Amino acid sequence: MSVISVTSRELADMPRAERALLINSLPGYKTGMLVGTCDAQGQTNLAIISSQVHLGSNPPLLAMILRPTSGQSERHTLGNILETRCWTLNGFTLDRAAQAHQTSAPYPKTQSEFDACGLEEEWLPAFAAPFVKDAPLQIGCVLREHQPLAINGTHMVIGEVQRLHYPEAARRTDGALALDAMGLVAIAGLDTYTQPDKGLRFAPADTETAPAAL
Ligand SMILES: Cc1cc2nc3c(=O)[nH]c(=O)nc-3n(C[C@H](O)[C@H](O)[C@H](O)COP(=O)(O)O)c2cc1C
Repeated sequence: MSVISVTSRELADMPRAERALLINSLPGYKTGMLVGTCDAQGQTNLAIISSQVHLGSNPPLLAMILRPTSGQSERHTLGNILETRCWTLNGFTLDRAAQAHQTSAPYPKTQSEFDACGLEEEWLPAFAAPFVKDAPLQIGCVLREHQPLAINGTHMVIGEVQRLHYPEAARRTDGALALDAMGLVAIAGLDTYTQPDKGLRFAPADTETAPAAL
């Protein structure tokens, strides 16, 4: 098998779009999430964001990395989160991948991606951000910390999970969620949507015994 080796000089000299696609591929498969927000006037927004990170379980914290508004593009998700301090994360199935991908188009602030991409809003009691109706996994987060990152001007927003909705059939007896049972999509790079199967599972590893399949 021939191998390509890329130096940091070659990365720096690469055309911008090609470098973005290459580097975006490196973190591997990530769960695809549609982030629902609204501004203080109630204008809703939906954007696909794949940079979700588990920060801790007690308190239950999820973080994501958002690009800010720049000269070329407005970023509504970050502005809305800083304004209303909450957002929703909505998993989706492969039959909705095209609609989910379309939310990454640069719609103006006055046009909600829910309408533009044919996804329905769902408002749940006492939560000030819209969920995607019929999403197999719905998570409501409130802002706990916001860290602008000096290294490249992106922002880390850290949310505490305050709402959680999923089908009973997806709950395993040990408490974990069977993501395959919900048909959740995983994303590679900026353009590939795939549905993983249940894969292999193992009991917690220890130094004395061989891996035990579950
Ligand atoms: C597969 C995929 C994953 C993306 N992940 C992120 C991400 O993690 N962070 C981010 O800032 N933008 C990400 N984007 C880009 C946003 O979806 C895009 O900029 C969108 O227009 C932002 O919408 P907004 O202005 O309504 O917030 C991703 C795009 C695609 C297609």
